[in-house]
Amino acid sequence: MLRPGAVTARIGGVKQELLGFNGSWPGPELRARQGDEMRIRVENGLQDGALVHWHGLRVPNRMDGVNVLTQDVIPPGRSFDYRFDLPDAGTYWYHSHYISYDQVSRGLFGPLIIDERQKPDVDRDITVQLFDMLVDADGVYDEDTGPEQFTAAGRLGNVAMALASSDGVTVGERVRLRLINPSIDRVYDLRIDGLDGRIVALDGMPLEAPRAAPGIVLAPGQRCDLIGDVTGDIVFRDADAPDLGRIASSGQRPRRATAIPALVPNPMPRPNGREARATVVMQGGAGGSAHAGFGTWALNDVSGLPRKPLLNVRRGTTARITLRNDTAFDHVMHLHGHHFRELSADGAPGDYRDGTLVGAGEARDILCVLDNPGDWMLHCHMLSHQADGMATWLRVG
Ligand code: C2O
Ligand code: CU
Repeated sequence: MLRPGAVTARIGGVKQELLGFNGSWPGPELRARQGDEMRIRVENGLQDGALVHWHGLRVPNRMDGVNVLTQDVIPPGRSFDYRFDLPDAGTYWYHSHYISYDQVSRGLFGPLIIDERQKPDVDRDITVQLFDMLVDADGVYDEDTGPEQFTAAGRLGNVAMALASSDGVTVGERVRLRLINPSIDRVYDLRIDGLDGRIVALDGMPLEAPRAAPGIVLAPGQRCDLIGDVTGDIVFRDADAPDLGRIASSGQRPRRATAIPALVPNPMPRPNGREARATVVMQGGAGGSAHAGFGTWALNDVSGLPRKPLLNVRRGTTARITLRNDTAFDHVMHLHGHHFRELSADGAPGDYRDGTLVGAGEARDILCVLDNPGDWMLHCHMLSHQADGMATWLRVG
């Protein structure tokens, strides 16, 4: 069971009232095994509505946790039973999908780890959530949400943390680090000291071959799995912030002689020949163009969920979607219920992802086999931008 509700937590040394699940801030790590069925009752202990979205999991549409498109908001005191199969292994997370810029920023999120049927050979498996929070002069969660929060780069925190599931490692041991960015708006440009490692998966999906990791860009919602050998204290640094946190090292054991292993790929759908095309133009924000609808941000001239879907296709259709950023800010576009491939400028298919970062003034094509029937959201995962209109949806029949 997951019970969202009020919790007391200590952030930056200051005790305060926030939100969490099952009395814990943030929510507890949920773990299951690939191929299993997940059954989870969400019992709403908030004074407000609740919804839980299983970010990155390819679940049936009515289990996706999105109001308007897939289910009604769970009222206070009521519950909803989520139930779905787990075809994919990897690093995922769950979070509130109701007034999420507010509820997630207060702590309604947690890791969701699906173990491989055959786990890679590592000594330790550590989850690290990179989270930031905006606090006032007293160090207490800042309730103020001025218009600037929504119109520019979002609400960036002034307290940064690396919430790790382990506080110690041994030099020489092989560890798997599962990085998750549940921050509402912040993009990290990470450097990791103390680990001689490689990237083995992005957004839960294994890479064909482990890849060197000089720097890791992690936008809101994105995940990155690394496997590596510990060489000292593991320190997480952001290009434009001081240390985010560290995992202390001690002792010494001999390093493995084996190379970093690749993970077993997840079963991905294949194109069936039917194709569709669409373009999403990101608009608005400070200094941006005008458009219809309620908010600052727009996609294809509409702010907020449009009445008609961006695409309405039959199951199995391969969609090529151009994401064009005509704004002065970066955006990370997240698609529900599927993973897509990023395409390089020459059209070559790259990594599988469920969120892709498109820089200001840039464009990227993605390719997705839409094999999961239902109505699926496609939105900016900078949650302040989503709240202010940057969302659309796809219908798969
Ligand atoms: Cu992580 Cu629409 O959400
Ligand atoms: Cu955005």
